Amino acid sequence: MTYLPSKDRYKNMIYRRCGRSGIKLPAVSLGLWHNFGGVDVMENFRKILHLAFDSGITHFDLANNYGPPPGSAEENFGILLKKDFQGYRDEMIISSKAGYTMWDGPYGDWGSKKYLVSSLDQSLKRMGLDYVDIFYHHRPDPETPLEETMSALDLIVRQGKALYAGVSNYPADEAEKAFAILKRLGTPCLIHQPKYSMFERWVEGGLLDVLEKDGVGCIPFSPLAQGLLTNKYLHGIPEGSRAAKSTGFLQEGQVTEQRVNQARQLNDIASERGQTLAQMALAWLLKDQRITSVLIGTSRPEQLADSLKCLDNITFSKEELAKIERILK
Ligand SMILES: NC(=O)c1ccc[n+]([C@@H]2O[C@H](COP(=O)([O-])OP(=O)(O)OC[C@H]3O[C@@H](n4cnc5c(N)ncnc54)[C@H](OP(=O)(O)O)[C@@H]3O)[C@@H](O)[C@H]2O)c1
Repeated sequence: MTYLPSKDRYKNMIYRRCGRSGIKLPAVSLGLWHNFGGVDVMENFRKILHLAFDSGITHFDLANNYGPPPGSAEENFGILLKKDFQGYRDEMIISSKAGYTMWDGPYGDWGSKKYLVSSLDQSLKRMGLDYVDIFYHHRPDPETPLEETMSALDLIVRQGKALYAGVSNYPADEAEKAFAILKRLGTPCLIHQPKYSMFERWVEGGLLDVLEKDGVGCIPFSPLAQGLLTNKYLHGIPEGSRAAKSTGFLQEGQVTEQRVNQARQLNDIASERGQTLAQMALAWLLKDQRITSVLIGTSRPEQLADSLKCLDNITFSKEELAKIERILK
């Protein structure tokens, strides 16, 4: 089957400016952490990518270690780029990252210049690309001087191997220092990728203010709390779900009575709004203009279609917000 992207692909998506940069990102972006690895079914993730692109999703997020096995999501993405998306590279924002364990020895982890530069070279080979649009340092490194890690990002951008630099999982104070270094080097940070959802709200304690002040975009990952903020676990752990899979990062023990109870109550509010819980959880993040895009995962095209409908209503009344807060307390 030859894939021909829909001519209407830019009709229904919302695009938001990423901080104070020239780049706009789709309000919903697609992450390839789960479901695109060597253990997964290519025909399924091929359909997901087609639906995403046809729906105006221009941003695809990867990392060196996505799989399993590590690296296989980038390889698979590279195969599909070549097969289906030739001629569309300039319509895509592709990101990768390095920061977690990738290969043996002292140079395959954390935040040295040696690791970041070698890892991006490997990622580019796996994806068959000359450059990525965004390259992230995946997590702060307590031992490597921040100057070295940031100068590695600056170097990579100057070499043309990435167009923009980003950081992920950096707490507010560390992020602020990183932004200042990058600014001084002449490669302003484009974007921060933190974990943020109704169930994970640490960014509200200072990071969002720093991002706004410094003109850096924000792309929350796991906005559905890996599926906990959907109707999936309301009545137990279904077969084939992330919590049931041996390769999934959501552990059975994280599907707690408390979370399920909260999800049930949130689900009632979502129904009153005419949304699914997944749609409401994404809309709840997008109500804040500082959020550039929500970075979702999906195991099936139907889920993606469902999640995308969040864009139909991203405003909340004061009463709805207060009710949600009472549930989350
Ligand atoms: N920077 C970092 O450190 C970091 C860490 C984690 C993730 N990320 C990025 O963030 C992306 C998203 O993370 P995530 O996959 O955890 O995000 P998520 O959107 O919170 O969770 C995705 C999972 O939720 C379920 N789901 C999605 N839509 C649904 C719907 N409409 N109805 C019912 N269930 C639905 C699916 O679970 P089932 O598989 O059970 O069907 C899906 O696999 C990753 O791919 C990656 O790019 C970054």
